[in-house]
Amino acid sequence: MRAWQTLFLPGTLALCFLITSNSMAAEANVWLPAGSSTETSGPPPKEYLKEGEILGGKSLIGKLLFNSPSVLGEKAVRIGLSCNSCHPNGHVNTSFYIYGLSSDPGTIDLSNRFWRKGTEDGKFNPTPIPSLRNVRNTAPYGTLLSLPDLPAFTRHVISDEFGGPPPSKDEMEALIGYMNLLEKETGSNMSRQVQTIQIGRLLDLLVEPVKAGNREMFDFRSSLIKEELGRQITSANEKKFKKIALRLNQIERDLVTASQKAKAAFDALIKEAALY
Ligand code: HEC
Repeated sequence: MRAWQTLFLPGTLALCFLITSNSMAAEANVWLPAGSSTETSGPPPKEYLKEGEILGGKSLIGKLLFNSPSVLGEKAVRIGLSCNSCHPNGHVNTSFYIYGLSSDPGTIDLSNRFWRKGTEDGKFNPTPIPSLRNVRNTAPYGTLLSLPDLPAFTRHVISDEFGGPPPSKDEMEALIGYMNLLEKETGSNMSRQVQTIQIGRLLDLLVEPVKAGNREMFDFRSSLIKEELGRQITSANEKKFKKIALRLNQIERDLVTASQKAKAAFDALIKEAALY
């Protein structure tokens, strides 16, 4: 890993950035059996939201969590797998294939010890990956196991299937808030697909923790933001993103001990981001 890449991420997230960064995306996932593919074969499916909604606050944090392998635990971090790998932009990755766990592309056996020791059911039973568009109205959830509500099924996915750390109340609300907005493609929303998340919108998530001097909240949100910058990185914006990551780290260090300095630095960053 190039030294500066570690600027973006604390601890375990560093590895997932390495794996999911654009420079790696086209390469085979070396952590999976040969012949596996977790990338979409073409551009990812479009993302549609409920009429009149935009991603912001909780639902935006939810989208960032949806894209973060850290939600699904250590193994997912190692193989760079997030909710979004199977349900890209809330839809289906029809190319998803893990050798030995998929029958056809777009199917996967989740009840296999590959994911978590206690989850093995002794059968090769891949199921098609479903779309999550309009998922708020498609209860009950799951085919092998049928659960009545979205939070219960999401908890099941994270903890029982993948062995990820139990999500906090805030994380759950964010993930559910995002999924509740996902909408089918209709004649009227075709032109409203969600675009790349702008830096200014990401930094807006830090206004609250900076104001409150809440380092824990700042750390949590800025880690997700840096992960997103990692996904958006190209050779053209690499320098700029590196600087933003460095400045976020400095603000985080100063937030409690030099709060005025941190607030001024954050205001300056927001103003500059508006020009990007
Ligand atoms: C490795 C691929 C994979 C990953 C990663 C994954 N899912 Fe799924 N998901 C599936 C499959 C396959 C099913 C169908 C399971 C079944 O039918 O029992 C499913 C079903 C669901 C459903 C139920 C949909 C319905 O209409 O019944 C929800 C909700 C869901 N996933 C959310 C998530 C969330 C949230 C995450 C991340 C925390 C996630 N999934 C990660 C493959 C995946």
